[in-house]
Amino acid sequence: MNELMVGRLFDWTDKNVIITGAGGSIGSTLAHAFATYQANVVLVDKNAESLTNLHRMIEEMGRTCLTFAVDVTDVEAIHGMVHEVQERLGSIDVLINHAGMNIRKQALDLELAEWDRVLSVNLRGMFAVAQAVGRVMVAQRAGKIVNTASVSAVRGHKHLVAYAASKGGVQQMTKVLAHEWAPYGVNVNAVGPGYIYTHQTEDLLADPAARQSIAAKIPMGRIGEPADLVGAYLFLASPAANYITGQTLFVDGGRTVD
Ligand SMILES: NC(=O)c1ccc[n+]([C@@H]2O[C@H](COP(=O)([O-])OP(=O)(O)OC[C@H]3O[C@@H](n4cnc5c(N)ncnc54)[C@H](O)[C@@H]3O)[C@@H](O)[C@H]2O)c1
Repeated sequence: MNELMVGRLFDWTDKNVIITGAGGSIGSTLAHAFATYQANVVLVDKNAESLTNLHRMIEEMGRTCLTFAVDVTDVEAIHGMVHEVQERLGSIDVLINHAGMNIRKQALDLELAEWDRVLSVNLRGMFAVAQAVGRVMVAQRAGKIVNTASVSAVRGHKHLVAYAASKGGVQQMTKVLAHEWAPYGVNVNAVGPGYIYTHQTEDLLADPAARQSIAAKIPMGRIGEPADLVGAYLFLASPAANYITGQTLFVDGGRTVD
C-alpha cells in the first residue's frame, strides 16, 4: 500500500518490464512509456531490426534496455530470454505479453496452416511466455502480467475467425492464470484494444470506405491511436491495480458497449 500513499503509482524506478512484440506500433509506444516512468525495459520481438532505434532511444533516456530477437513460437528461445533477464536484471516485475499477428480471410478460404500459425503466435506463444515468466513471478511472490486481447475476443467480426478464436482464448487464459497465481501476489489482466492504426491494420484502414464504416460503429466516432492504449497498460501494471485480476479492460472508443 505504500506506493498508493506516497503518490508513486506510476513509478517503475528499478523495476524490470518485459514487452513482447516491442518492435510494433503499439509495443514500441508502450516501451517508450514505461521508460518514461523510469522502468528498465526488455524488448522482445522476432524482428530484431525493429528494435534497434527503440533500444538506442531508451538508453538515451538513461534506462537499462535489453533486446532479444525471439519468436514467441520458439519455447527454447523464450526460456533462454527469461533466464538471461533474470541473470542480468534480477527480478521480472511486469510482463506486457503483446506479440501478435493476424490473417484476414473469409472462413471458407482460410487454410488450416494459416489457422495454426495465428493460434501458435497469438495463443500458444502468449501462454508460453506467460508460463515462463509466471514461474519467476510466482517464485518472487510478486508480479504483474498484462496480456493483449482484442475486441475480437467478444465480437464476431467477419474475416477474423482464427484471430477471434485466439483472442477469445487469451481472455479465458487470463482468467485461469489470474485464479491460479493470485495466492502468489501475481496479477494477470488483459487489455482489449479496438481498431487502432498500426502495421497490423495498415492495409485495411488504407481503404477510405472501410475506415469510414469501422469508425461509424465506434461510439466515439474515431479509430484509435497506439497512444490511446498507454494509460490502460500502465494502470494494470501499476500498484493502482493491486486488487484487480483476471479482467479484460477494453480500450475501444465504446465499440463493445452494445
Ligand atoms: N491494431 C489493432 O487494431 C489491434 C487491435 C486489437 C489487438 N491488437 C493486438 O496488439 C498487438 C500488437 O499489434 P499491432 O497492431 O501493434 O501490430 P504490429 O504488427 O505493429 O506489431 C506486432 C509486433 O509483434 C511482432 N511479432 C509478430 N509475431 C511474432 C512472433 N511470433 N514472435 C515475436 N514477435 C512477433 C511483430 O514483429 C511486430 O513487431 C497484437 O497482439 C495484436 O493482435 C491490435
